[in-house]
Amino acid sequence: MRTPCQNLVVVWVLIVGFLGCKDQGANTSEPSHATLDRNLMVDLKDTGIKIQPTMYGIFFEDINFAADGGLYAEMIKNRSFEFTLPKTGWMEPNSDRHSYNNQSGIMSVVKYGGEGANHNFARVEVKDPQGYVLINEGFRGMGVHEGAQYDLSLKAAKHLGDITKIHFQIVDSLGQVLGETTILPDNKDWKTYNASFTVSKTEMKAKAKITFEGKGEIDLDMISLFPKDTWKGREKGLRKDLVQLLADLNPGFLRFPGGCIVEGRTLERRYQWKKTVGDIEDREILINRWNTEFAHRPAPDYYQSFGLGFFEYFQLSEDIGAQPLPILGCGIACQFNTGELVPMDQLDPYVQDALDLIEFANGNVNTAWGKVRVEMGHPEPFNMKYIGIGNEQWGPAYIERYMAFEQAIKSKYPEIVIVSGSGPFPDGDYFEYGWDQLKKLNAEIVDEHYYRPPQWFRENADRYDSYDRNGPKVFAGEYAAQSVAIASPENRNNWDCALSEAAFMTGLERNADVVYLTSYAPLMAHEEGWQWTPDMIWFNNLQSFGTANYQVQKMYSTNAGTDLLSISENGEKLIGQGGLYASVVKDSYTGEIIIKVVNTSKGQQQMHISFGNKSLKGKVEVLTLAMDDLQAENSFADPFNISPLESTFQLGGEALEAIVPSQAFVIYKINI
Ligand code: AHR
Repeated sequence: MRTPCQNLVVVWVLIVGFLGCKDQGANTSEPSHATLDRNLMVDLKDTGIKIQPTMYGIFFEDINFAADGGLYAEMIKNRSFEFTLPKTGWMEPNSDRHSYNNQSGIMSVVKYGGEGANHNFARVEVKDPQGYVLINEGFRGMGVHEGAQYDLSLKAAKHLGDITKIHFQIVDSLGQVLGETTILPDNKDWKTYNASFTVSKTEMKAKAKITFEGKGEIDLDMISLFPKDTWKGREKGLRKDLVQLLADLNPGFLRFPGGCIVEGRTLERRYQWKKTVGDIEDREILINRWNTEFAHRPAPDYYQSFGLGFFEYFQLSEDIGAQPLPILGCGIACQFNTGELVPMDQLDPYVQDALDLIEFANGNVNTAWGKVRVEMGHPEPFNMKYIGIGNEQWGPAYIERYMAFEQAIKSKYPEIVIVSGSGPFPDGDYFEYGWDQLKKLNAEIVDEHYYRPPQWFRENADRYDSYDRNGPKVFAGEYAAQSVAIASPENRNNWDCALSEAAFMTGLERNADVVYLTSYAPLMAHEEGWQWTPDMIWFNNLQSFGTANYQVQKMYSTNAGTDLLSISENGEKLIGQGGLYASVVKDSYTGEIIIKVVNTSKGQQQMHISFGNKSLKGKVEVLTLAMDDLQAENSFADPFNISPLESTFQLGGEALEAIVPSQAFVIYKINI
C-alpha cells in the first residue's frame, strides 16, 4: 500500500510525464536573425477598462525555507526545542549519551504537560565547564556580516549548583570566534536575558557556540539570535534584503500563507492562523508540509516556528503597500496528499476562523480578536478587503464547503471580497467543474494556477480574450514556466521561461477587465534549503537576488498604469504573430503612455508605432530586458546578468520608431 506521500509523488510523476516533452525554446518557429518590419497602432481612446491596483502582486508561501531560515531573520534553528526530535539543530561535540560525561556535561530536553504551546526546554548539566559545548547549526549555517550587530535573547532558570556565566559565541567552521557576549544568570526562576554583540568577519556558515562557567544544571529556552539590522529595524524582525526585493516590486497585494501549506497534508497539520498570533513563545510550532514532500529534496529539519505569523504578514503587507490577501483552509486537507474532509456538520470552527480573522484584521479594540491585534501593537485596522477560501481544492466537496463559508462571511461582512479556487490545473475536469459551479454561485474572484512549459505561456497569451465578461474575475494566483516539468528539480529560472511569461502577461494586461490579480509562484528559495524550483527570488545566508522572472514581474508591476488602451497590427491584437506580443496602458497619475512589447523571436523587429491621427511629442523612456541566450540566468555570482537597461529618446514625428532586439521584453514610456 502506498503512503500519501508516495501517492503525491506518483501524481507529480504523471504530471511530469505529461508535461515533460521538451520545449525547444522561444524562437523555434521563427526565422533566424531576420529583421521584421512591424506597423503597430496604439488607440489613445480610453477603453473604459481599469487596471486594478491589485493587478501585480506577491504570492508568499513558507516553502524552500522562505519563512524560517529566510524572510524571518531568526538564526537559531529549533530555538525552543519543540521539534519532533527536540535536539534537532543542536550538537554537543564533547558529550556522549552513553556516558556520565564527567569531562563535559550533557543536555536533556525536559517535556512538561499543561496548557500552552511551548512544552519543552533544555536542561543543561555542566560537570566540567572546560569540556562542555552546546552548538546550534542555524539554517544551513548562519550568515553573519562584518561589523554588524546581533541581538541574543534567551530564557534561563538556574536549577542546581551554581552556573555563573553563559558564554555565547559566533564561530566559523574552523572554530574561530567572530563575535561573542556573556550572560550572567542570576535567578532560579525563568528570566529573559538580552545581550548584543558585533561580528568581526563576514561568514556564510557560522554557528552559535554556547559554553558555561560553574557547575550544575541550568534550564534554557527560547534561545534566539537576530541581526539588529532588520527590515524597519524591528526587533526580532524580517531579513532586510529580502523584504527590500519584495518592496521593490511595488506589489498590489500580498497573498499568504500559501499554497498547499494552508491545507496541510492532514487536517491536523493544516495552517491555523490563531496559533500564529500573540507572544512568539506561545505560537505552537508545526512540521512544515514541505518537510518530506519530495523524496528528491527531503528537509526533515523544516518546521514552522510561526515567528512570521498572521500579524507579521498583515504588517508586511502594510509596509510594502500591498493589499493583504490571506487564504484559509476550507476543511479539506491537501488533495494531493490525504484529502481528509471535515464533515459538513463539523465545519463551523473552520468557518468561525474566517470570521474571526476578519475581526482580527479589521475589528476595533472592543472586539475579541480586534483586541488581540491592538495588544500586538497595531491599534489601527489593517483594512483587509479580500479573503481566500481554499487553495487548490477540487470537486463537489470543495464547492459544498465554499458555499458554507460564503454564506457566513457575506452575512456578516458583505463588503469582504471572497477569492475561490478552480483547482491545481488550468484546464481539464477539475477546472471545468470548478468554474462551472463557481459561475453559477456568482463567485467574485476565481484563483487559477498554471505551472506549464514556456511554450504554453507563449501559446496562451490569448487565454482570457474569450472569458465571459460578466462572470467571476480571475486571480492568476500561481504561475511559472517550468523549463523541464512541474516541480522538477532540474527546472531553471532561465530567460526562455521569463521571456515566455512576459509574453503571456501581455494577455493578462490586455484582459484587465477580467484579470484582477496575478502572482508568480513560488516566491523564494534558499540556495540549499529548497524543495521546489523555479522560484522568483533566490537567497543564501548572506545574499539574495531576483531572477530573470523577477525582473519581468518588476517591469510589469512598476509600470502597471491605471487604464487599458489598445494596440494592434492591421486591426489584430498581438498574441505572438511573428513572435510579437504587446499591450498598452495609460497612467492617469503621470500622464504616461506605457507600451509593453515582447519579441520572442530570434531576430530584431523594427517597430513603427503610430497613434491614430495623433502626433505625439516628448521623451520616451525605454526599459530593455534582452538576452541572446535563452538558457541564461541570474545567479549569486552575476545577479544582474539579465536586468533592464534604461535609455531615452525624443519622439518627434507621427510614429514611434524603434528596434526591438531579438528575444527581448521592452517597455516604452511616453511622457506626453
Ligand atoms: O507553489 C508551490 C505549490 O504549488 C503551492 O503550494 C501549491 O498551491 C501549488 O501546487
